Amino acid sequence: MNSKTKFAIIGLGARGYGLLEMAYLEHPDALFVAVCDIYEDRVKDAADLIEKAGFDRPYETTNYKDIISMEDIEAVVICTSWDNHIDMSIEFMRAGKYVACEVGGAHSIRECWKLVEAYEETKVPIMMLENCVYGRDEMMLMNMLEKGVLGKVVHCSGTYAHDLRDEIAFGKEKRHYRLENYIHRNTENYPTHELGPIAKLLNINRGNRLISLTCVASKSVGLREYVNENKNDDERLMNINFNQGDITNTLIKCANGETILLTLDTTLPRYYSRGLTVHASKALYTEDNHSIFIEGEHSQKDHFKWKEYWGNVTDYYEEYDHHMWKEYLQKGVKKGHDGMDYLVFDEFVKAVRAGSEVPIDVYDMATWMSITALADASISNGGQPVYIPDFTNGKWINRK
Ligand SMILES: NC(=O)c1ccc[n+]([C@@H]2O[C@H](COP(=O)([O-])OP(=O)(O)OC[C@H]3O[C@@H](n4cnc5c(N)ncnc54)[C@H](O)[C@@H]3O)[C@@H](O)[C@H]2O)c1
Repeated sequence: MNSKTKFAIIGLGARGYGLLEMAYLEHPDALFVAVCDIYEDRVKDAADLIEKAGFDRPYETTNYKDIISMEDIEAVVICTSWDNHIDMSIEFMRAGKYVACEVGGAHSIRECWKLVEAYEETKVPIMMLENCVYGRDEMMLMNMLEKGVLGKVVHCSGTYAHDLRDEIAFGKEKRHYRLENYIHRNTENYPTHELGPIAKLLNINRGNRLISLTCVASKSVGLREYVNENKNDDERLMNINFNQGDITNTLIKCANGETILLTLDTTLPRYYSRGLTVHASKALYTEDNHSIFIEGEHSQKDHFKWKEYWGNVTDYYEEYDHHMWKEYLQKGVKKGHDGMDYLVFDEFVKAVRAGSEVPIDVYDMATWMSITALADASISNGGQPVYIPDFTNGKWINRK
């Protein structure tokens, strides 16, 4: 196939516009022929961007349903707010278009099942654009695990640690969706940046699965103080209680015995981190000090002077970088979250062009998104354990 594949992008806020600008317009096989947002100015800005990059001006619309009937469009990228990802995805799948959907969590288990059912009825693939699965370290760890360097993985943890107080509190001015979520909900609202790579390491939905979780949320202080100090002229926010706890901890148990701890930490002062740790029978990886401790290479007597190893992950790149990253480094890493944004999109483009399945598929998407709805239920019941549905209906046992 020589001609470029025609795409539409829906949702042109910070993420959608940023993806076009930093990564997607550079893709040699993708052409963005339609752009959509409910805000006209965002549609125009994106169309201008595409034109300035040297392409034909795309079709512009504020109604995504216009794109459903555009027959020449083979695939859509959905970068809208969390509330409409699933319904919109299903509409496009039913119209026969491959869907790539940005990350977020589900409101209910029913909508996750609807997504799975739409795929099983149409066989049109949907891929969650979980860029963090394609991080350099995350992929190197996959490679090290396959080569036996880590031994067996026993426990992993991850954090979505990102001070979002400004984005949330100024949500009205920024026309951003997070504010209403933090006012009304109390849950692990953003599980997939951590869970995605961990699920890949643990072969979730491919010989292993998530079986139960318990989630506890702390009290909510960060946003209240931030509004008092930075936005005390906002009468609505000054008189509102934020339901979202500052820290939520979600502990998940897997069918093959591993445990996973996910922490959401978005409303207190802190540095950005996804806080990945991998505890395995032969090694420990810790993102926050960027270190790997490998049995045999690091001795028992180093236990109390491990600061000497902080930052040593880079020593392992040459030997253990994933082949995908080796090629990417040679070709030149693109902008956007240290290159991950382009890599995940590239995987999607390849699948669309080959007419094949996608690497982060509907079962992964439903499972990962379901954590938000289930954590909500667990928090509401005082941290009670909640069963995680098997969205594969038993296929996980033999899926590769
Ligand atoms: N993978 C990552 O690293 C990453 C980073 C940032 C954001 N995101 C995800 O990207 C998505 C968007 O985030 P954002 O920060 O750009 O939010 P945003 O609020 O800035 O943008 C969302 C856009 O979607 C538009 N929209 C909402 N409903 C629509 C509809 N029915 N039709 C057309 N347009 C609609 C809104 O008008 C808005 O412009 C979220 O799912 C978020 O979680 C992912």
